[in-house]
Amino acid sequence: MRIIRGSLLTFTADPFLRSEAECLRYEADGVVVVEDGKILAAGDAGPTLAALPAEARDRAEAVRHSDALIVPGFIDGHLHYGQTEIIGAYGLQLLDWLSTYTFPAERAFADPAHAADVAGAFLDELLHNGTTTCCAFCTVFPQSVDALFAEAGRRGVRLLAGKVCMDRNAPEWLRDTPQQAYDDSKALIAKHHGKGRAEYVITPRFAPTSSSEQLEALGALAEEFPDLAVQSHISENRDEVAWVRELFPECRDYADVYDAFGLLRPRAVYGHGVHLNEREIALFHERGAAVVHCPTSNLFLGSGCFNVEAAKAPARPLRLGLGTDVGGGTSFSMLQTMNEAYKVARLNGVSLSAARAFYLATRGSAESLGLAHTIGSIEPGLEADLAVLDLRATPLLERRLRRAESPQDILFALMILGDDRAVRAVYSGGELVHERRVVGSK
Ligand code: GUN
Ligand code: ZN
Repeated sequence: MRIIRGSLLTFTADPFLRSEAECLRYEADGVVVVEDGKILAAGDAGPTLAALPAEARDRAEAVRHSDALIVPGFIDGHLHYGQTEIIGAYGLQLLDWLSTYTFPAERAFADPAHAADVAGAFLDELLHNGTTTCCAFCTVFPQSVDALFAEAGRRGVRLLAGKVCMDRNAPEWLRDTPQQAYDDSKALIAKHHGKGRAEYVITPRFAPTSSSEQLEALGALAEEFPDLAVQSHISENRDEVAWVRELFPECRDYADVYDAFGLLRPRAVYGHGVHLNEREIALFHERGAAVVHCPTSNLFLGSGCFNVEAAKAPARPLRLGLGTDVGGGTSFSMLQTMNEAYKVARLNGVSLSAARAFYLATRGSAESLGLAHTIGSIEPGLEADLAVLDLRATPLLERRLRRAESPQDILFALMILGDDRAVRAVYSGGELVHERRVVGSK
């Protein structure tokens, strides 16, 4: 048993749909009690500790984090591990960026040694940033999927990932076929899904790179495995949207393409959705599918400004998570991703509150992935994935926080000024998996 003490913050519901006071739980002197990788109890330290049997309290390993805030480990709802090394590729919008930088980089993942090397670096980068779960695109090569699950298993972290399927509009050396996409994905499900904390995700790259035959094959696979997650991209860039209209003239819009093949359903998560129309958002809502907002990517690639307020309109709220979309995105930090989400919202004339941003990065992503009963909050029964944020991470943050008068303002300062330096410790399944070392400190 492990007892982790410090200020505590988590969400019990969606603050876009209810008042923040109803959704946000904050304990100034809180505690998380962990046993067998799960949260046994969490709350106000006094009563929570008093409720434990004295014998359990005595044998527990206790740690106290002062000047810190314990939050649920972040959940990055959308990113590409095969693009780790091309983060920050200069000068292009989506379609040219894909053909110039992305496809050649992903080709290298045919080599299992390269895949293993990048997979380890990728997962370490996530953990250093407080991200304990991600939903990742691998590459078209099944061996790249094996490599990522192997490294995640070694670290004991929860991972959702899948083989990218693409059979057209891409270089020949990066294409599969409808049959290969189906067979490889099915074999990877058998090999990885449900092993430890691994979840396989059915992964058509996006409509332009999958023929109708391939989308049909993956729709059939999704029907065979109704509980599996699905991931893809939608409506990120205006040229992409126009291209999909040409490629699928029989469909009403982009969302209709995925819907026609049974790929809009609960646990289906689509990156971006910047240019979705009202009908498409309502369809997502009806189907229970989710969008993952990726602001650093949308700004970096010049894709557009996702309207978070419109997306979450109470009449038909979109299930929404937050993602980095590395390597289109420019940071592994979900704090920096919240920062950019705030700025994108400002460009749309609205303010994204810190509580809503942190919700999206934790419980919101968990709900999008259908995992809110497993991760994304600090409550009994959930897996003990936690990030300890350092309120003194930098002199500037410390100075700014002297003025903070509410948990919401602490959160806001963290998301605007914080990055990996603000992540003091990370627990995955109750185990300490990262501790920040500061040069010159003991
Ligand atoms: N659309 C299709 N593939 C990709 C990708 O790899 N990154 C981004 N940002 N958008 C995509
Ligand atoms: Zn993406």
